[in-house]
Amino acid sequence: MAKYKIAWLPGDGIGKDVLDATKIVLDQLQLDAEYIHGDIGWEFWCKEGDALPVRTIELLQKTDAAMFGAITSKPVKAAEKELNPAMQGKGYVYRSPIVRMRQLLDLYICLRPCKAYPGNPLNYKEGIDFVVFRENTEDLYAGVEFGPVPAELSQVLAKLSKNFDPFKDLPLDKYAISCKVNTAAGSERIIRAAFEYARKFKRPKVTVVHKANVVRATDGLFLDIAKEVAKAYPDIQMDDANVDAMCMWLLKSTANYHVLVAPNLYGDIISDLCAQLVGGLGFGCSGNIGVKRAVFEPTHGSAPKYAGMYKVNPIASILAAKMMLEWLGEAEKATALEASVAAVIKEGKVRTYDMGGISSTLDMGKAIAAKL
Ligand code: NAI
Ligand code: MG
Repeated sequence: MAKYKIAWLPGDGIGKDVLDATKIVLDQLQLDAEYIHGDIGWEFWCKEGDALPVRTIELLQKTDAAMFGAITSKPVKAAEKELNPAMQGKGYVYRSPIVRMRQLLDLYICLRPCKAYPGNPLNYKEGIDFVVFRENTEDLYAGVEFGPVPAELSQVLAKLSKNFDPFKDLPLDKYAISCKVNTAAGSERIIRAAFEYARKFKRPKVTVVHKANVVRATDGLFLDIAKEVAKAYPDIQMDDANVDAMCMWLLKSTANYHVLVAPNLYGDIISDLCAQLVGGLGFGCSGNIGVKRAVFEPTHGSAPKYAGMYKVNPIASILAAKMMLEWLGEAEKATALEASVAAVIKEGKVRTYDMGGISSTLDMGKAIAAKL
């Protein structure tokens, strides 16, 4: 029996292209794994009314880790139109399979490395090397939202908050409320994960990203908890910054940052900024990580216009596989894989279109495998 069971979820569009290239590399590494295909994506919404079928959830629950490509998603109303006509009007509502995977498996960490590999023509500048820990389960993504606003809620808010005065007499369908919910436990575990990572990978500092000067209750809680957690890590510095200033500092003084930790929304926004610093969508990889389960993915979507053309850059997906190896405890293989990626980038002979080259997705996979 293989040492690991890996759920293999290509999903839609270029998800399959990049995972095919990733498989070439993992095979070359001779990872002792059984790869088990899982159904996910648009096709399953259209056919079955569920983009993340129960059988796939079960697969995720019995495997050691998952590699996920990308999915196509559409707004609820547009999705309804493409659903199997026999199923329309029967209460099926399109829900994002990624968000559901995070919730169902309690994948509370979204880890996004941000590293400028020397020689990548798309680097914003050289020497960038930090990681972002984005909280993945709560904050403004908690889904506690009202539009139109229920009258009871409006009355309670009018009673409890002076700041609600400008809104309290508005017609209920003329405003909307999205609740930012941050818990002490949810904040603590992501902040702790960031400090643990800093310790394990010998990073000198954790930077807490927030907007506590304005969003006092929730971000204030996040920052207070960070200060508490930091006490247990005297070997690691902690500093903090407002999210807006952070965007500026990340461009200006990138080398000052090592590990960032942020609530969900700020983490989401900063992560995309960070991906662009080091080459954009072809390089952005991420791990959705919980206590027992983890799903690794390139951060890009299904890019339908390139689907099946084997044209896009698989490096994001291959670096996601490197993160998976690290998470499985296969540190040597992870290091070897990263060294091969770095070598191919530095050499500059094999480049996909986004890097200004003409190599295919599979050529890139083969070139990286050949360096192993
Ligand atoms: P996208 O990320 O799929 O692609 C945008 C553009 O970026 C592409 O047209 C292409 O020019 C470039 N690109 C993306 N990946 C690349 C790669 N590996 N190498 C080189 N260039 C690459 O975003 P878009 O077009 O906004 O969304 C397409 C679909 O993907 C939508 O249905 C969207 O909802 C979904 N999506 C899924 C995500 C996921 O599965 N995690 C994340 C983002 C979007
Ligand atoms: Mg995003």
